[in-house]
Amino acid sequence: MSDVKNLAPATLTLDGKTHELPVVEGTERERGVDISGLLRDAGAVTLDPGYGNTGSCLSDITYIDGNKGILRYRGYPIEELAEKCYFVEVAYLLIKGNLPDRAELERWRGLLTEHSMIHEDMRNFFRGFPERAHPMAILSAMVVSLSTFYPELLGEGPEAVEITAARLISKVRTIAAYSCKKAIGEPYVYPRHGLRYCANFLHMMFDSPCADYQPDPVVVKALEKFLILHADHEQNCSTSTVRLVGSSEANLYASISAGVCALWGKLHGGANQAVIEMLEQIHATGGDVEMVVRRAKDKDDPYRLFGFGHRVYKTYDPRARIAKQMSQDVMGRLGIHDPLLDIALQLEKIALEDDYFVSRNLYPNVDFYTGITLRAMGIPTKMYPVMFAIGRLPGWIAQYLEMRNDPARKIGRPRQIYVGPTERHLPPIDEREPAAAAT
Ligand code: ACO
Repeated sequence: MSDVKNLAPATLTLDGKTHELPVVEGTERERGVDISGLLRDAGAVTLDPGYGNTGSCLSDITYIDGNKGILRYRGYPIEELAEKCYFVEVAYLLIKGNLPDRAELERWRGLLTEHSMIHEDMRNFFRGFPERAHPMAILSAMVVSLSTFYPELLGEGPEAVEITAARLISKVRTIAAYSCKKAIGEPYVYPRHGLRYCANFLHMMFDSPCADYQPDPVVVKALEKFLILHADHEQNCSTSTVRLVGSSEANLYASISAGVCALWGKLHGGANQAVIEMLEQIHATGGDVEMVVRRAKDKDDPYRLFGFGHRVYKTYDPRARIAKQMSQDVMGRLGIHDPLLDIALQLEKIALEDDYFVSRNLYPNVDFYTGITLRAMGIPTKMYPVMFAIGRLPGWIAQYLEMRNDPARKIGRPRQIYVGPTERHLPPIDEREPAAAAT
C-alpha cells in the first residue's frame, strides 16, 4: 500500500488540550484522520454506530465514489468489466490484482474445472436438511464444512493461494446448485468438465435425469454480467464480517461462511429476494404501487422500499443502471413479458419523483432489478441471495487475503461507551426486585 500520502495533521481539542492526529490521503484523494492513538493520548474513543464514518483499512481492491456513482475494481470501471469480461477473469483480477493474460486465464479456468466436484460424503449433509431450509443456511454450513474435508486450506505461496481460491470459487457454485436441487426435491447433477463456469452452474441447476438442459447463450451472458456486478463492493457488511472473523486468524472457509450469514439479511444481499416478494405482493393485490410507497414513507411502519437506498451511493447505483438494462435486454431476447418488470419501472418512477426519496437521496440499488433477471432465467426466488454470494466470493477472498497480508494487521476489536449501571452489590435472593420491574 505504498500509494498512501501523509498530509498535514488535523487537530482535536479535548479538555482544553490540543492533540495532533495524522491525516492520510489515498490515490483518489479520499482523506482519513488516523485516530488510532486517540485513546492513548486523549483518553477518548470515537463513536460511530453503523461505522458510517469509519475507515477500517487501507485497500487497493475496489473504489467507490458514492456521490458520482462510480465503481471500479482495481481501477477498471464496472461498466467496462460487465460488458467485456468473463466472471472468472474478474475473479482473477480481484484476487491477483491484475487481469489474466491468455495463458493465465487458461490455467485459472483449468483449476476451476479441476476442483468443481465436492467430496461425495458432503452430499450426505444435504440429505439432513429439511426441504424448506433456506439455501443460504445450507451454503454457510457447507462452506465451513469444506474446512473439514480440505484441511490443508491456505498453504504458503502464490500457487497454494491460487488453488485454494479456485477450489472455493468452484465448489461454492456446486454447493449452491445442490442446495437448489435439495429445495425442489430433484437429484443432484454433477458438474461437467466440458462446460465453462457459468454454463456449468446452469447445467447443475437445470439438468435432470428426464430432461437434458442446453444452456442458452443469452442466459449464460446474463449470468456472467450478474456475477461481475456483485464481485466486490469494498467494506460492506458481509466483507467487513469476513475481515473481522479472519482477523482472529480463523481460516478462510470459516470467515467466508460468516460472510454468507451477514449477506443473508434483507438490508444487504437478502434484499434481492425481498424486492421480488414485494413486487409479487403488489401484483397479487392489483398493482397498487402507491400503497407500497405510502407504507415506506410512514415513520410508524417499519416497512421499507426494498432495493432502494444505499449507505454509500447518494445517486443512482451504477450496478442498478446496468442491471435495469440487463433485465430489459434478457427479457426481450428470451421473449418473456414479466408484469413485475412493469411494476418495478412504475415504482422507480413514482419514488424518484417523490420528495421523501429525493430529499434523502434514495435511488434504486443493485438489488432492485437483478431479481427480475434471475426470474427470467428460471432461478427460484429463495436462491437469489445465494446467487449474490457466488458473485461476491472473489471479493471476499481478495479482501481476506489483503487483510492477512497487511503488516499493520491487528485483530478487529471495536470499543464502546458503557451506559449500564455503575458498580452495585449483590442483594440476597429474597430482597431482589422482579426482573420486569428492574429493567
Ligand atoms: N425505504 C424507505 N425509507 C428509507 C429507505 C427505504 N428503502 N432507505 C432509507 N430510508 C430512509 C430512512 O428511514 C432514513 O429516513 P430518516 O432520515 O427520516 O430517518 C433515511 O432514509 C436514511 O436511511 P438510513 O437507514 O439511515 O440509511 P442507511 O445508510 O443506514 O441504510 C440501507 C442503508 C440499509 C441500504 C437502507 O437504505 C435500506 O434499508 N434499504 C432497503 C434495503 C435494501 O435495499 N438493501 C440493499 C442495499 S444494497 C446491498 O447491500 C447490496
